[in-house]
Amino acid sequence: MTRKIAILGATGSVGQSTLDLVERSPERFEVVALTANRNVDALADAARRTGARLAVVADEGRYADLAAALSGTDCRAAAGEAALAEAATGEAELVMAAIVGCAGLVPTMAAVEAGKTVALANKEALVTAGSLMTDAARTSGATMLPVDSEHNAIFQCLAGSRSEDVSRLILTASGGPFRDWTRERMADATPAQAVAHPRWDMGAKISVDSATLMNKGLELIEAHHLFGLPSERIDIVVHPQSVVHSLVEFVDGSMLAQLGSADMRIPIAYTLAWPERMETPSERLSLADLGRLDFEDPDTERFPALRLTREALEQGGDAAILLNAANEIAVEAFLAGRIGFVEIAALVETALERASGTTPASIDAVIALDRETRTRVTDYIAKADADA
Ligand SMILES: NC(=O)c1ccc[n+]([C@@H]2O[C@H](COP(=O)([O-])OP(=O)(O)OC[C@H]3O[C@@H](n4cnc5c(N)ncnc54)[C@H](OP(=O)(O)O)[C@@H]3O)[C@@H](O)[C@H]2O)c1
Repeated sequence: MTRKIAILGATGSVGQSTLDLVERSPERFEVVALTANRNVDALADAARRTGARLAVVADEGRYADLAAALSGTDCRAAAGEAALAEAATGEAELVMAAIVGCAGLVPTMAAVEAGKTVALANKEALVTAGSLMTDAARTSGATMLPVDSEHNAIFQCLAGSRSEDVSRLILTASGGPFRDWTRERMADATPAQAVAHPRWDMGAKISVDSATLMNKGLELIEAHHLFGLPSERIDIVVHPQSVVHSLVEFVDGSMLAQLGSADMRIPIAYTLAWPERMETPSERLSLADLGRLDFEDPDTERFPALRLTREALEQGGDAAILLNAANEIAVEAFLAGRIGFVEIAALVETALERASGTTPASIDAVIALDRETRTRVTDYIAKADADA
């Protein structure tokens, strides 16, 4: 039996890895919808290859190009927010939520509210609207399957166990490209150095987040929402080889870990085939070749984003929304060469000063606060530019 799948963010790193797996197993999957932001060429190409019935660009200015690129096919072109939601809620049974940033919140939430099986890569959606999303999943009966390798590892380790038997989750972090750098050296880090991740090949935003360790902090908040454990029962350990993707400790002192090569197709495949497994072309690990696995505590002095994310989680309310919005704007500014690397966490810290302790009651309220924070941080950067 084939499963109907929609891929939101099909032109990105996770989206392309998903397409790779889906196209290798045409007997398992039927692609019904694909989305992108602006990359019409890659989107139309994927739609043609897979026979998708709907292709959506978020940017309405790209609609005419998409329609032209799909002419002569049975694939309908569409654009804008409503069309993204249609892709997420239409005939797909399984929705891969792989848009980057808070931009993915509305369509991901739409898929959850429609009771879909949602393979969740878009961690920013869960970070900003965690309780709203998990409540919606409970109401609609949606299943959320974590794509992030760490959460996917934990999900695998938890299979068949009772929640009361779990004592601790341990998220592993590669440490990123600046693991051994001093703060002084990081101050001069370039975007090219920040996106050159030592282990994983990913989109630009998550690569910078991995360099600041903001990514691990976002994952801490994500783990809290997915697995329902408080901050003090979720630890982070640096593991430079990125072979152990995360661990669960149980009340009897046992620890279970999931290991695999650093290839997103492994956790993605787990969500695509769940509750079964499917083959992937991923490289197999040779433990003897690896020889050793190293672990060390993270350094929150050199990587303040880790401290800020834990504070935001413990503070609750709207803190994670401010943190995420400020980080998205700061990362964009860093990639555009407008601010330095260490300023990313500094801007996030400033934004967090306005946290009110109140949890927004709706997705609209989350989006309003996200936009307001983006504007404030953007203005702040522009003013600093003008003063310089
Ligand atoms: N990459 C990884 O290995 C990895 C691992 C774990 C988790 N994740 C998470 O997965 C998500 C995707 O990451 P990625 O690395 O795949 O990102 P990416 O390579 O930058 O791709 C982002 C995707 O989202 C689309 N997009 C961007 N802005 C959009 C908007 N405003 N509206 C609608 N669509 C938009 C892009 O379309 P265009 O191509 O048209 O711009 C692209 O399809 C992130 O939340 C990330 O944290 C990624």
